Amino acid sequence: MIYAGILAGGIGSRMGNVPMPKQFLLLNEKPIIVHTIEKFVLNSKFEKIVIATPKEWVNHTKDILKKFNLDLPTITVIVGGSDRNGTIMSIVNYIEETYSVSEEDIIVTHDAVRPFLTHRIIQENIDNALEYGSVDTVIEAVDTIVESQDNEFISSIPRRDYMYQGQTPQSFNIKKLQELYYGLSDSEKEILTDACKIFALKGEKVKLVRGENFNIKITTPFDLNVANSIIKGSLDK
Ligand code: CTP
Repeated sequence: MIYAGILAGGIGSRMGNVPMPKQFLLLNEKPIIVHTIEKFVLNSKFEKIVIATPKEWVNHTKDILKKFNLDLPTITVIVGGSDRNGTIMSIVNYIEETYSVSEEDIIVTHDAVRPFLTHRIIQENIDNALEYGSVDTVIEAVDTIVESQDNEFISSIPRRDYMYQGQTPQSFNIKKLQELYYGLSDSEKEILTDACKIFALKGEKVKLVRGENFNIKITTPFDLNVANSIIKGSLDK
C-alpha cells in the first residue's frame, strides 16, 4: 500500500509573531496546509493520507478539513512528535498500529509548508520508492556551497556540480525506515535530523528525484511573500 504523511507538527518559530503555526496561515484565502493536502488528494494511488500536527492544533486541522471539503475517509489527523523525524515516526507507528504493513509498503512524507509540489514529483517519488526503497527530492545547487566547520573560516568548497539542495517529498519503504530509525542510538538521532541522511549513512542507496525551484518551503515572512507571488503568477497565466 502507498501512504502519504503530511508533516505539520512544527510551530514555525522562524515565521515570527503570527497567531498560529505557519502551516495554518492563509495563502490566497486558503491555509497553506490545505493547498498541500489538495495535491495529495488528487493522486488516487494513496490508500491513506495521515496528517500530523501539534496536539493543540488537531481539532483546528479537522475543522479546516471540513471547511475545505477535505474531511474524507482517506484522511486522518494525528499528533506529531517533538522533532521532524519524531513526527515521521508518529505517522509510521500510527500506520503500523492501524493497518497491517507489508514489506512492500511505502510512505511519501512531505512538509505541510511546501504547497507547490507537483503531480510529477509525487508520482516519481512513488515509482522510485517502490523500486529503490528510499527517495529524496532535490534541485541542483545554483550557488557554490561553502563549508565552514568553525563558522569563521572556510573548511572546504565542494564541487558545485555534485551539490544539490534537499526538498520534500522524501519517500521510504516503511519497514526499512522503522528498522533503521529504531537501530539509531540517542546521539545518532540528534545528529540525523534528516530522514534520508539516516538511509545514506547506514549505507542504503537513496534515489534522487528532481524537484522544482518553485517547490519552496515557507519558513520566514519573506518566503510567505514569495509564495503569494508564485500563486499570483500562476493565477495570472
Ligand atoms: N515539522 C513537524 N514536526 C516537528 C517539527 C517540524 O512535522 N516536530 C514539520 C513542520 O511543520 C514543517 C516541516 O516539518 O512542515 C519543515 O520544518 P520547518 O520549516 O523547520 O518547520 P518548523 O519546525 O515549524 O519551523 P521553525 O524551525 O521555524 O520553528
